[in-house]
Parts: sequence; structure tokens; C-alpha cells
Amino acid sequence: MRQECYAAFMRLSLQKDREPIYQKLAGRLEEMIHSRSLRPGDRVPSVRQFSRQQRVSVPTALQALVTLETRGLIEARPKSGFYVRARLVEQVRQAASDAQVTAKAVDLAGPDPVASLMTNPGNSVLAPLGAALPSPELLPGSKLALIVGRVARRLGPEGVCYDMPPGSEVLRRELSRRSLEWGCSLKAEEFVVTNGCTEAMSLALRATCVPGDTVAVESPTYFGLVCMLRELGLRALPIPTDSVRGADPDALERMLRRTRVSACVLIPNFNNPTGALMPEENKQRLVKFLASREIPLLEDDLYGDLQHRGNRPCCLKAFDRDGSVLLCSSFSKTLAPGYRVGYLAAGRWQERVLRLKATSSLACPTVTTLAIADFLKSGGYDRHLRGLRQHFREQVARMGEAVAEFFPEGIGLSRPQGGFVLWCELPAEVDSIKLFKEAHSAGVSVAPGPLFSPQGGCRNFVRLNCGYPWSAKMERSIELLGQLVKRQLRGK
Ligand SMILES: Cc1ncc(COP(=O)(O)O)c(C=O)c1O
Repeated sequence: MRQECYAAFMRLSLQKDREPIYQKLAGRLEEMIHSRSLRPGDRVPSVRQFSRQQRVSVPTALQALVTLETRGLIEARPKSGFYVRARLVEQVRQAASDAQVTAKAVDLAGPDPVASLMTNPGNSVLAPLGAALPSPELLPGSKLALIVGRVARRLGPEGVCYDMPPGSEVLRRELSRRSLEWGCSLKAEEFVVTNGCTEAMSLALRATCVPGDTVAVESPTYFGLVCMLRELGLRALPIPTDSVRGADPDALERMLRRTRVSACVLIPNFNNPTGALMPEENKQRLVKFLASREIPLLEDDLYGDLQHRGNRPCCLKAFDRDGSVLLCSSFSKTLAPGYRVGYLAAGRWQERVLRLKATSSLACPTVTTLAIADFLKSGGYDRHLRGLRQHFREQVARMGEAVAEFFPEGIGLSRPQGGFVLWCELPAEVDSIKLFKEAHSAGVSVAPGPLFSPQGGCRNFVRLNCGYPWSAKMERSIELLGQLVKRQLRGK
């Protein structure tokens, strides 16, 4: 009787969250492997043992073990069972960040020869390792298309009308509800709907700065931000950034006591390109420091929903007490980059942002915005996120293993806890722009380090996109990149 109760309890606890039982079981073993309770070479329970222990059927236990095998965490040995695989990536050190951060503001005037390299990131005969994009096959395109049709029919003739700022109230109410998960409690009226995170960032910069001003940014940082600063006639003050913990608060405080900046832009959650996650105490400290100096803090939280494990990290905005944080994000990395649905909670600059929005893009796409709002409201977004996070976690792990296998010794690699990009430090002699060109001719796109460095540093770094499911094609592309790197090292 007790056993039956226990089995029922296990089933119930495993069924919580509607995650398939085999995945939950695989997740438990995976945790044990990551916490090193199970180490490389250790035998994992046999299928029968596992099914008995966990009170699940043999096919469910088998499916859990096969899932771990697919994730590259365990391997089957003939007639002997499953064993924890030695992970090559564990022998690779953490990638450094940008070593050449100068303590001076950088003038970005003039065309950037490096940015032009990314104008055709799509030549990916082999694999799209360049632009930070999720594979469309991982996004709920068909579901969204159905909702778009439903919304358009529901709206009738009104579907073609402008959705004037601040934008769809339905979406803003959903964002308000979600903001509890970010550690905030923002009201619907605190949001402006934007055309993606790009428009949110552009509005936030234009609201807080005028041409000629200096903006503190992490180095390395998202290359689109560097391009935007250049186009807005702004200068960049690169902040030393750790590839695990993000912007260095000591360095930032030191620099801002010396150099006047009009704003500071940070990507604290799963930074692009380093994947760094800023610890909560640093978030709190930086928000407080910047507010005390009346420096607006622009937060890009585009990857915040994409943690690989556990809870979603909080936003900088969670520590905002006086409206000095301008939170920017969108659904481009999780749902539909082409729908161009983003948002901005601009704090004290809300009124200014609304005026700017009216003179830049005037309005947002009515039907796609409402379709995304409906998807959030129905719970579809949360269900989709659960699967997507798992895909990204697996893809990042597989890519990391392949890099460790095919790249030469002495490289460094990031260990992102979320998102889907890897930051790879190559040996100092390697020129990533040359690598980019050679890889491009061979049909592999890759993002060279200098794109992400306002002062043109990071010459021996590349960022690798892990947004696509792992495949033999991907493996061949990483092997090819590894060969090109080794060729440069041999001086050919
Ligand atoms: C950090 C970061 N911010 C903003 C963007 C642009 O987002 P959106 O497509 O929503 O404009 C990207 C796109 O790669 C990004 O990586």
C-alpha cells in the first residue's frame, strides 16, 4: 500500500509542469552529472534498475537514458550499460573578455570596415554560426500564423489601422503580469510597444543623449549597439567586462568618476556575445550607483527568458527606485524576429519616448502585436519557452564539445547559463577577420570578435551561434573552422 502511495506521489510530482516524465527523469540525472555527483566514467543505473527505482515503465526509463545519450552526457558501452561521458569541454578554460579596454571614450565616427562584414551573414551553405539567430524550426511559426489569422478576422476592418503609441493595451497588460517574473511590478501604462528591441534601444538612447555625448558600454558588447551609437553620433566608453559576471562594477565606478557619460547600456542577462550573467548583488550595486549620479541606465534584456536551468534571472529594473532604468526587450529571440514586437519601460523618460516614437515609426504592427499578446495570454509562450530553453541548453553543450574536440589546444570558451551563443578565445596569433573571410568562402558564417569591441579589440575571438539544432552539418562546420584556425597557427 505504502509503495503504491509512493509510486502515485512520484508520478504526480513528475507530472507537475506537464513536462514529459522521461524528460524530468533525464533532467534529474543531468543535474547529478552537472553537480558531479555522477562523474565521467561512472555507470548510470541500468534501464531496469532505473525503471524500478523511479517507479516508471521500462520504455519511459529507456527514453530518459536515450535522451541523455542524445545530449551527449552518457554513452552506451556494448553489453555493459550506460556510462557518464568524459566531457572534453571541461578541459577547456573559460574564455577571457576584451583585454584591450582603454580607459578612454572611443570616437566611432566614420564608416566601420568590420561592421560591413556582417551585411551578408546569410551565406551559410554549411552552417549559420554567424548571426545570433534561433532556427525558425524551433519557433512556433505555424501556431502564430493561426493566431494571426484569428486576430485579423476578429478585428475585421480595424486590423489595418494604426496601433498608436503606447501600443496594444492587451500586450502591455501581459507584459505587466510577466514583469513579476523579472523581479519588478510594472504597470501596463509603464510600457511602450516598439518595433523590436532595436527601436526600444534607439528610442532610449535618443531620449537620454544628444549627438556628441558619451555612453558607457560593456566591451565586448552587441555589435548592433556599437553601430547604433555610431549612427546617432555618440561616443563609446568601453567598460571592462568579465565573461562570467558581466560588467565589472569596480571598474565602472572608477571610470564614471573620471569620465562624464550621458547614459550606460548593459546586457546583464546572458550577454551577447559573452553569455555572462551579472550576479544579483552587482545588479543592485550598479543601479544604485548610477542612480546616485543621475546617469540613466539602459538595460537590454533580450535573452533574459532563456536561462538553461532554474529560475529566470531578475532584471536591473527590479532595483530601480526612481525611474532611472530604461528596460528594452522583444520577442525576437524567443518567438518571431520578423514580427518586430518589442517593448520599452522607460521610467522617467516615458513621455519623451512617446513623443520620439510618434516621429520615428509612428505606430506598431497591429495584428502581429495582438497575436503575440494572445499567445502570452493563453500560456502558449511559457509552454514554448520550456522546450526552447532545453533545445538551447543542448545545442550550446554540443557545440562546446565539438569546439573542444576540433579546435587546437589553448583556446578558451564561455560557459553560458542561458541564451544560445558561445564566445571563443582563439590563440593570440589567430586573426578572426581572416578566419571569417576564409570560413565565408567555404560556406560557414561566423562572427569575428572585433565586431563586438568598440575599440576594435578582440581580434582573436569569435562568437558562435548555437541557435540551430545540432547536426552532422554543424559538426563538419566546426571541424572546418578548427582546421582553418590550425592552418593560421602553422602560418599558412
Ligand atoms: C543584445 C541584442 N539586443 C538587440 C538585438 C536586436 O533585437 P530585435 O530583433 O528585437 O530588434 C539583438 C539581436 O541580435 C541583440 O542580440
